[in-house]
Amino acid sequence: MLQHNVKACVFDAYGTLFDFAAATRACRDILGADLDRLTVLWRDKQLQYTWLRAIQRRHVDFWQVTGDALDYALDTLGIHRPGLRDHLMDLYLTLEPFPEVPDMLRRLKAAGLNTAILSNGSPMMLDVAVRNAAIHELLDAILSVEEVGVYKPAPEVYRLAVERLGIPTAQICFVSSNSWDAYAAAAFGMRVVWCNRYGQRPERLPGRPDREIRTLAELPELVGAATGR
Ligand code: 2OP
Repeated sequence: MLQHNVKACVFDAYGTLFDFAAATRACRDILGADLDRLTVLWRDKQLQYTWLRAIQRRHVDFWQVTGDALDYALDTLGIHRPGLRDHLMDLYLTLEPFPEVPDMLRRLKAAGLNTAILSNGSPMMLDVAVRNAAIHELLDAILSVEEVGVYKPAPEVYRLAVERLGIPTAQICFVSSNSWDAYAAAAFGMRVVWCNRYGQRPERLPGRPDREIRTLAELPELVGAATGR
């Protein structure tokens, strides 16, 4: 159990609530043997571009970065099928939530906790994804890095959640499946649960998550919301 005084659970979006692999998976028949390589290269390049643009202070929004990363990945793999690029981008807007997400959020709300998203996603992307997943009513706030103009893991991003929620840093439980994001939020001073979906080894980075889980279904128990239904 984390400390009892957790007042809010703040979630990363892509990889944590929404399955970014769902976009390429939906094009499995077209992509064939390139499916896994495109999924990994698209995601890796998307994150690399956010980190490089943050260091250069040359910010553009996540929709632009996601499109640039997809263009790089398709070009690298020599995939030039007309219409596929735009189809994959459309699919990225309506990524499936991981199956345990709606019930988990309902249990947190039933227990009286605040819930929010804190994501690299642009406001447009996050609004479409949340409505498509029908979890809008289960979130008290949807926070995009566009409000601070720099990507995670810049401390300004985690500070945005503290300021917008009006809840002390140590009473916020940040939840991410992206290890580097989880470690950065811990270094910032939040309580942190790393949803280590893919069994990654610990990072050698500042900060250390308080707990590690495999799916978000395990979260309510950790924040004293086990019985809320
Ligand atoms: C997010 O901010 C890191 O892509 C991840 O949603």
